[in-house]
Amino acid sequence: MAARIIDGKAEAARLRAAVRDEAAAFTTRHGLAPGLRVIIVGDDPASRAYVRTKTRMAAEAGIAGELIELPETSTTVELLSRIERLNDDPATHGILVQLPLPAHMDAEAVLRAIDPGKDVDGFHPLNVGRLFSAGRSLPEDLLVPCTPWGCLHLLRTTLGSDGLAGCHAVVIGRSNIVGKPMAALLLGADCTVTVAHSRTRDLPELCRRADILVAAIGRAEMVRGDWIKPGAVVIDVGINRVATGDGGSRLVGDVAFAEAIRVADAITPVPGGVGPVTVACLLRNTLIAAQASTR
Ligand code: GUN
Repeated sequence: MAARIIDGKAEAARLRAAVRDEAAAFTTRHGLAPGLRVIIVGDDPASRAYVRTKTRMAAEAGIAGELIELPETSTTVELLSRIERLNDDPATHGILVQLPLPAHMDAEAVLRAIDPGKDVDGFHPLNVGRLFSAGRSLPEDLLVPCTPWGCLHLLRTTLGSDGLAGCHAVVIGRSNIVGKPMAALLLGADCTVTVAHSRTRDLPELCRRADILVAAIGRAEMVRGDWIKPGAVVIDVGINRVATGDGGSRLVGDVAFAEAIRVADAITPVPGGVGPVTVACLLRNTLIAAQASTR
């Protein structure tokens, strides 16, 4: 039987509707909408498309989203001074600096400069430390990285809130944006977690032991159908543009979808899986940051 397709678009719409209601209540109570500032440096077309989606979705949810576009030639010092001003601005509740930054910039210094209370990406060392030291329930005001939070949310909607306990989860990818925080969240959900990466030996065999497989590698369709345990739940974080041969292109994930649906119990599609839920989480984090700022 073909796998269930996990509908990230529908789930994201539900999450955004809940944020919209709470954002409206916040705006009425405080006379000011939750405010999100998204900073992008340079002209990478894919990154530009992502940030435009983020600010458009913010506006639709009643969040005052502003896109700040800086030239590729900007210096770290210029970006730091921009962040400092936003840290001091009471109408700015969330700050996101789109990654990757140009190679000449000090990304670590930039992420450290964001006020941890406005760090809607959850990338500041203080928020990373809080996530990794949290137990099985996360603090309500914790700003969690959006992509792994979205993956966990989709797993919970697919398996039920108790359905993750005791599962062997394999996360492929060890980035600070996805792999490492994903491992922390899955541990908190009582999974047994293995983090695999480019130097892992016999990756297909390891994946075949996964009840939950999260692919965040950035390589088009690398995970084949015969890497998947029958009945596993597969979360595909990859977004890769590949040529179609007729001069066009299409988006594919890190998992060979047509093969995987014949083996898995449930799988996220690309596009329409993890991506929309990630954006919804960003709006949720902005609301959490705004609410925390008034306490
Ligand atoms: N680039 C790719 N994913 C992300 C993300 O979640 N946040 C930021 N800031 N940049 C990204």
